[in-house]
Amino acid sequence: MAGPTKDKAESKLKFVVTTSLRPTHELVENSKQLAAHFNMNYAARRNLSIKDLSSLFSADGLLIVSFQKILFVMGDNKFFFHPGLAGLRIKEINNGKTDQMISAMSLKKGYSVLDCTMGLGTDAIVASYITGATGSVTGLECSPVISELVRQGLQSYLEEDKEIMLAMRRINVINTKHKKHLTSLKTGSYDIVYFDPMFRYPRRKSPGINAARMLANHDPIDRETIEMAFNVAARRVVMKERRDSDEFARLGFKHIFGGRHSPVAYGVKERQGVP
Ligand SMILES: C[S@@+](CC[C@H](N)C(=O)[O-])C[C@H]1O[C@@H](n2cnc3c(N)ncnc32)[C@H](O)[C@@H]1O
Repeated sequence: MAGPTKDKAESKLKFVVTTSLRPTHELVENSKQLAAHFNMNYAARRNLSIKDLSSLFSADGLLIVSFQKILFVMGDNKFFFHPGLAGLRIKEINNGKTDQMISAMSLKKGYSVLDCTMGLGTDAIVASYITGATGSVTGLECSPVISELVRQGLQSYLEEDKEIMLAMRRINVINTKHKKHLTSLKTGSYDIVYFDPMFRYPRRKSPGINAARMLANHDPIDRETIEMAFNVAARRVVMKERRDSDEFARLGFKHIFGGRHSPVAYGVKERQGVP
């Protein structure tokens, strides 16, 4: 495991790593390893409730390692890796329906994708399914906790559909800020560079998203980052935002795609003259 980058907001919070109730020796060892990776304290579970353990350690949040998953708990909010709507979107694509993100990317088998805002990895899974074994998807995520939970989830989640499971396993996760990473890349390193930043104004509340929202970076993207992304993209830079968002104009996206009735849209910057 590569050590996490320090995300400013997240590093101000105190998290403690523990196990589910009645852990095995292996679970205890796994949680100690995770605590060491994050440079956090490990706390033996000792049959304590989540609430009691949090107050005993004055922790803002707990990372609870069980056999099936790593659960992040902060107050009443929980977050753990789950492929979300990826399976349904893939089923619809296979039934001939248009997936607006795939269509905006004009994504094909064999393409390489840099997902600069991986979050819970749903978009990355759909992209990885389409690019297939001959393509690649790299996901960047600056929250150390989100990136590690999603990285482990993508590698271990047991998905019924083998092709979707393989698509998950192929995703390469990097815990970093996208601007920093883009600086290190050569011109045309990826076919598609994708951004799905936190909406300037959130659309709706959902318990799963809210817990991750607390860890997520909400900084707006700057124009220089989009210019760097355009240099790194051999074909397109694509950004998802609310349909009516001023972000498209601010960041220089002139071509906006998306279903007429959808609340979200995709801004596209295309490199000319690429077949
Ligand atoms: C709206 S979510 C992305 C959701 C994702 N497309 C999915 O399908 O699950 C945005 C994510 O980007 C991350 N993020 C925001 N700014 C970032 C940056 N500068 N570098 C890397 N990740 C960033 C946030 O922490 C958050 O997890």
